[in-house]
Amino acid sequence: MERKTPLISQEALRQQEEISDYLKLWWQNQGITPVAYVETYGCQQNEADSEQIRGILERCGYGLTDTAEGADLVVINTCAIREHAAQRVFGNVGALVHTKRRHPGQKIFVCGCMMGQPEISARMKNSYAHVDGIFSPHHLWQLPEHLYRVLIRHKKAWAVEDSAGAIAEGLPLVRTNRLKAWVSIMYGCNNFCTYCIVPYVRGRERSRLPEDILAECRELIAQGYRELTLLGQNVNSYGKDLGLGLDFADLLGQIAELEGDFVLRFMTSHPRDASHKLFDVMASHDKIAKQFHLPFQSGNDRILKEMNRHYNRAQYLELIEYGRSLMPEIVFTSDVIVGFPGETEAEFEDTLSLIERVRFDALFTFIYSPRPGTPAAKLPDPTPKEEKNRRFDRLLAVQNGISEEKHRAYVGKSFRALVDGRDGDRLTARTDGGRLVRFEGDDSLMGQFVELTVTDSTTWSLVGQISGDGAGRRD
Ligand code: SAH
Ligand code: SF4
Ligand code: F3S
Repeated sequence: MERKTPLISQEALRQQEEISDYLKLWWQNQGITPVAYVETYGCQQNEADSEQIRGILERCGYGLTDTAEGADLVVINTCAIREHAAQRVFGNVGALVHTKRRHPGQKIFVCGCMMGQPEISARMKNSYAHVDGIFSPHHLWQLPEHLYRVLIRHKKAWAVEDSAGAIAEGLPLVRTNRLKAWVSIMYGCNNFCTYCIVPYVRGRERSRLPEDILAECRELIAQGYRELTLLGQNVNSYGKDLGLGLDFADLLGQIAELEGDFVLRFMTSHPRDASHKLFDVMASHDKIAKQFHLPFQSGNDRILKEMNRHYNRAQYLELIEYGRSLMPEIVFTSDVIVGFPGETEAEFEDTLSLIERVRFDALFTFIYSPRPGTPAAKLPDPTPKEEKNRRFDRLLAVQNGISEEKHRAYVGKSFRALVDGRDGDRLTARTDGGRLVRFEGDDSLMGQFVELTVTDSTTWSLVGQISGDGAGRRD
């Protein structure tokens, strides 16, 4: 099979680099070191995109700042997943009128998934005169060109044409964390769940080549990164477009075999393509965290069908059981939507009973939000908002009870955990299962794997202390 995904040519990428170098010089010649502020909404994919945006901006001569106030450039990287996220963006972009007034040279760019929605980007273009440029995720790699247009040619930059998507390898990156790195392994989504906007704004599924991913992982490990998280909207369909006979489980296994002391995570998995083979690979590699984020969305078969999810409740539960049969300690987390159009009380009860059956460690719960242009947005939705809120609260109460019990059951047990930060007078660490543990310790432990015994728990986190000699290394 031929590879379907177009790569952005080296030539085209080089042109962008040349523009970056030109802009850097242009700033230098004015004796200015400009600063940029990048604000990110949405998921890890957007976080990863913002790391590329920062990388490109640095190459264009910008330093980075953590406030829009006084910044020479503001980039707002938006999320379109729910109405609420979109409203916040409009509010915050609107408020930038004032920061720009205080710093007239300021340029404002809006990018990300919302800019992949034609009506939304048109509204941004037509009603927000202080915005200098907008670009959708497909046009991120051309950021130097957009900047050139705005800074040098004094024009507005609009780059929102739709596309199935391509891959730009080797863009510069400024990573925000020095221990934990995102590694995008694929982009886009082909699933078209009926409620979801992502396939419309991020284009078709396209996988990076395994050698590019492995090279990036190797480099990250050599630089001292201790946690790698492989990213994709549906990592389980990795490789389908490459035609190399290599699937996600194979890729995961290959990365887990790289030398070094690191923990490997991945997200997100779609239950339709989550294979037994994937669980087998997880079980046979110590370096792969025993954590699985497996969104189920609904516990009712009719709703799952309406959502176009291509699995049913029984198949979902079978996957969970298979995973637990191989790895009794595996931590499952999930996403769920309450109030999908036409969801009845009885269908909602199926969702409740599924979470009681599976007992996830943590659950991300969302009230259905109609996204214009998606099939579900056209469905009749007779359930009043108050009723949906009531279901949501019920679900949350049940899950909070489960999370609390699960966390309490960890008390007395020991876990290997990566020390990743400080919270007041305590250090914080993440167990392989992704649970947060606070404990007393010295800053020299930062970035180390330690063995922690859990001494206390809350709904959301654990308290622990270093156990034994504290060494959490495997080798
Ligand atoms: N690709 C991932 C995550 C996509 S977005 C996956 O397939 O699991 C993250 C979560 O947002 C989804 O899992 C879903 O629970 C939620 N979500 C997506 N669209 C939504 C909508 N229109 N309304 C409410 N929640 C939504
Ligand atoms: Fe959206 Fe479904 Fe794709 Fe996830 S798998 S991004 S929910 S369409
Ligand atoms: Fe939002 Fe786009 Fe992610 S819509 S959830 S930022 S892929």
